[in-house]
Amino acid sequence: MKTPEEFLEENGWTSAAKIDRSRLIAHFIAEMDAGLAGRESSLAMINSHLAAPGRENYAGKKAVVLDAGGTNLRGAVVSWDGAIEARRNQSMPGVAREVSAEEFYKVFAGEVERLKPLANTGKIGWCFSYPAKVTENLDAQLIAWTKNIKAPEIVGQHVGAELLKRLGGGAIAVVNDTVATLLAAKATAGEKEYSSFIGFILGTGSNTAYVDQDLGVIINAEAGAFDKLPQSKFDEILDARSGNPGRQRLEKMIAGAYLGPIGHEILKAAAKAGYFSRRGGSVITGLGNISTKELDDFCDGVADLNLPADDLRLARRFVLPVFERAATLAAVELAAFVIKSGEGVQADEPVAICIDGSTYYKTRSVDFAATIKHELDDMLVRRRNVHYEIVAKVEDAPLIGAAVAAIMGN
Ligand code: BGC
Repeated sequence: MKTPEEFLEENGWTSAAKIDRSRLIAHFIAEMDAGLAGRESSLAMINSHLAAPGRENYAGKKAVVLDAGGTNLRGAVVSWDGAIEARRNQSMPGVAREVSAEEFYKVFAGEVERLKPLANTGKIGWCFSYPAKVTENLDAQLIAWTKNIKAPEIVGQHVGAELLKRLGGGAIAVVNDTVATLLAAKATAGEKEYSSFIGFILGTGSNTAYVDQDLGVIINAEAGAFDKLPQSKFDEILDARSGNPGRQRLEKMIAGAYLGPIGHEILKAAAKAGYFSRRGGSVITGLGNISTKELDDFCDGVADLNLPADDLRLARRFVLPVFERAATLAAVELAAFVIKSGEGVQADEPVAICIDGSTYYKTRSVDFAATIKHELDDMLVRRRNVHYEIVAKVEDAPLIGAAVAAIMGN
């Protein structure tokens, strides 16, 4: 019988070790350039109409902030210097069941009404973490839902204008979470000089924003849609079953909404191929959905999915590569954006990378931070003499960045 590694390879799986990093970086940059030039590309390269902030100071100003991310909707009042008040979390409408436009906006309008008395600018910052075309007045027109949100009437709408309509007016700035994270990093960077900034999210979904030097604006790349990738049979099964088949190919290989389900597909295929004992095989066949957290616990040795001891070690060999591949692909993506941010960046003014998202910070079985740093040191510093720094996590970066955009904009 073949080893788990051979079985994976036979099904089109490219292990982390075999990923052709240089080739992918070149593809990534070519796709960015095509997207920017309006040519056919998997990368939307959306103009955020925001420049990276300079040394503006709006001390004391507070905005109402909404953060519609993956599965959660957060509301709070956030001040220019990052203080957060009256925070509340609820589930994002359209996650548990399909909702109409009225039901959708009602939840957001309710949050704004609750928070308005505590703010002092009359401005709303909305971190909206889905692919959306941004208008010059910082509204966002939803292109398509990702993360399996079910609210079809919203697609094509300008979400900011629709919300204001229900509030009877006001001023709003809608920003992607990658853009918000970049803004938050810049706003809290202090004295240290960086040549540029990158906002990277690796949570339920994944994406990158960077500052385009030629255009002088922050671009939301919608990098999770990158599709010049070697895909396995398991990726294809998962894609076909998802709410947006054929889209978000890279995201489906690296983000939290998908890693558990990929591992599940692999385990089912391995069970079918006869790798496990009779009891182990039937345990796997009988498993419900596996979340990314559950797969991580399994790989990390804190959960055993009720598998007999003999099957456990083997099963882990089949699925740990899911996390290893994800970390390496995330590093390749970041390398491409650091290079795009300015080749020849010197060590004393590196490109700052600010990262948010649970998959990056909470995965235990593979250390994403260490893997990405190791990879970037090799791909960027050693091979290209391009310098970067992964800056300290800005807590609640999406909320803070949305407040920065609201207070600065409009
Ligand atoms: C969305 C992006 C978002 C990313 C991270 C993706 O599914 O398309 O807009 O930035 O998730 O939240």
